[in-house]
Amino acid sequence: MTSALFSPTRLAGLELANRIVVSPMCQYSADDGIASDWHLTHLGMLANSGAALLVVEMTDVERRGRITHGCMGLYSDACEVGLAHVVAHCRRFGRARLGIQIAHAGRKGSAQRPWEGSRPLGPDADAWPTIAPSAIPYGSGWPTPRAMTLADIEKVRDAFVAAARRAVRIGFDAIELHGAHGYLLHSFLSPISNKRTDDYGGSLQARMRFPLEIAGAVRAVVPKPVPLGMRITGSDWIDGGLAPADAVAFATALKAWGLDYVDVSSGGVSGDVRPPNFGPGYNVGIAEQVRRESGIATRTVGLIAGARQAEAIVAEGRADMVALARAMLDDPHWGWHAAEALGAEVARPPQYERAAPAVWPGAAYRT
Ligand SMILES: Cc1cc2nc3c(=O)[nH]c(=O)nc-3n(C[C@H](O)[C@H](O)[C@H](O)COP(=O)(O)O)c2cc1C
Repeated sequence: MTSALFSPTRLAGLELANRIVVSPMCQYSADDGIASDWHLTHLGMLANSGAALLVVEMTDVERRGRITHGCMGLYSDACEVGLAHVVAHCRRFGRARLGIQIAHAGRKGSAQRPWEGSRPLGPDADAWPTIAPSAIPYGSGWPTPRAMTLADIEKVRDAFVAAARRAVRIGFDAIELHGAHGYLLHSFLSPISNKRTDDYGGSLQARMRFPLEIAGAVRAVVPKPVPLGMRITGSDWIDGGLAPADAVAFATALKAWGLDYVDVSSGGVSGDVRPPNFGPGYNVGIAEQVRRESGIATRTVGLIAGARQAEAIVAEGRADMVALARAMLDDPHWGWHAAEALGAEVARPPQYERAAPAVWPGAAYRT
């Protein structure tokens, strides 16, 4: 049997051994944006998950662009040194290629870590003022962000470029912009959070302008062989919000600006929106539409946990790649077990080769 999930693919100059990607996952464990020993443990482990590509968590281009005090950044020399150390560690011991997601939290910034409540920081917790396209809070009880001036827009664009330069210098194999989950770029795109009356608000074309300017400016400093992608919103799951047709239009524009792939996620634009009940692979249908209508390489994400489920998505041509988040935390060797289930080969570090099912009789006794 030949597995589609374990077939190789290529993004720009990057060869990927299979279609499995570890989705970016915030760890809220950095110190003023600087990666900690937790990142060595976490990313070092996931660099051996069997996924061809491991995408480092949302890493913020400005200090005020972090969600929490523990979020990772790429806005200082110290951030760059810390992340370079983690990347060197993953390269030395891991098998995955390494990507990074660069981002700005916008009006969702200045918040507590999830295990502290995910609420806005109080004045006694070193809260900071946030910025957004319009002065509209993320949800009830959230502070009102400052509407960005044209000078802010320029400054944030330059910060994305500076962070991308740092990511290139560190030697990441792929760079991804975060255009989803209610953070700054998504909040410009969505009519729910963008009520501007200047050139950056109004029609979809105008709302796309700032994210596209960032995509273009970052593309200009990321060498062509290094794939540049964006995580985008397939739906805001709210009447009057972004819908799949907007995702198609945005992906088409990103392709024209030289981006190599999109990852289609959804939701997160407002703390007051109740998302529908999500079922398995809830974003796959939108990814399929984006892939078919825009022609850009497309990754899907969201409640994908089974090897056969992932295999079917790729085999049926619904997405080029699948990203998994929680299933990878649950089983950090998810890709090894998927390979076993699908009769495929996967790279393992030599230290662990004795647990390969082909040489370990105990593999047959697992339930
Ligand atoms: C602990 C955790 C941290 C996350 N952090 C990020 C992040 O940094 N960037 C991002 O785009 N999505 C983030 N997500 C969302 C995941 O990447 C993914 O899109 C979502 O969990 C759905 O996929 P899943 O069902 O495989 O978990 C996070 C999810 C989890 C569970």
